[in-house]
Amino acid sequence: MKSTVLSGIRATGKLHLGNYLGAVKGMLELQDKDDFQTYYMVADLHTVTTPYEKTTLRGSIRNIIIDYLSAGLDPQKSTLFIQSMVHEHIELSYYFSTVTTVAKMQHVTTFKDKVKQHPEHVTMALLNYPVLMSADILLYKASLVPVGIDQEPHLEIAREVARRMNQEYGTSFPEPRRFATKGEYVPSLSGEGKMSKSVEGSYINLTDSHEEITKKIRSIPTATVAGGELTGGLRSLFSFAELFLPDQVENYRNAFQKGTLKFVELKDAVADAIYHDLESIQEKHRAVEQNISFVDDVIADGAQRARLIASKTLQEVKEKMGMPL
Ligand code: TYM
Repeated sequence: MKSTVLSGIRATGKLHLGNYLGAVKGMLELQDKDDFQTYYMVADLHTVTTPYEKTTLRGSIRNIIIDYLSAGLDPQKSTLFIQSMVHEHIELSYYFSTVTTVAKMQHVTTFKDKVKQHPEHVTMALLNYPVLMSADILLYKASLVPVGIDQEPHLEIAREVARRMNQEYGTSFPEPRRFATKGEYVPSLSGEGKMSKSVEGSYINLTDSHEEITKKIRSIPTATVAGGELTGGLRSLFSFAELFLPDQVENYRNAFQKGTLKFVELKDAVADAIYHDLESIQEKHRAVEQNISFVDDVIADGAQRARLIASKTLQEVKEKMGMPL
């Protein structure tokens, strides 16, 4: 029996380096192993839990599929689909909400962060965010979820929902675990917090040119004193060095301790290495963008394949809960 993997990304804009290293790299790694069945979706229902631009949403959703294909996700190996096209996600999340308390949801750290970010927009959909995410995962009985470390609170809820459903109704949901990559936490370019789409100046997009990447990496604030603790921007710069120049990072660290490190040299080496990694993705992106009918086929086929599994699980749950079938 193959283990099942599921992951998703919201359609909130272009993918950045954090999404790539924390999620997409893990998705690729698991897709290429024979013993996993992989499902990767665009989390468009999660996208509308915070304010968004309705005139560009449909295009942004497609773009995530194009980004997936450009990064190397392969529709022959993975089911690539759009969450809202498989209505079972919403239906299962409703049944899951019957075993989830409001108090529990109000304590989820990501919910509290979003309340601070959008105090005018504290909706039922936002409160239900982790329950819908649990449904995404458990609809396919996925046991492994490649996501960044920031998603851990949601996985904790998914495990709890699985346990409660199993206890209460005798279902057989697995307790899903996170599949972590080396880039599970990609820091912001500013040196404060994580790289995030919602913080301007914090991120590098996968489509950024060599010049843009160099400019952004050069702008990381770095102290000019030698030695001592790595703080803020320096910590970010060395994290990038660890991720993109693993063989050279020790030398740079020693040079920093000795006071001989030229920051601009390290920054340019990091920028070159990042661009080197992204170059082939960008090339493929240009090709995929031109092939609209292929993208349409992937989307239609993915939804069909996902529905096949999703409808089966939903039927099982309804049956166990005593609902009419
Ligand atoms: P989203 O759209 O916020 O982020 C997509 C993925 O990118 C990862 N990520 C990062 N990883 C490392 N460092 C960073 N700075 C960084 N920023 C973002 C996130 O951890 C995530 O893996 N709730 C999810 C979408 C979702 C989902 C799911 C994921 C909906 N249903 C089911 C897995 C399974 C989210 O908001 O991702």
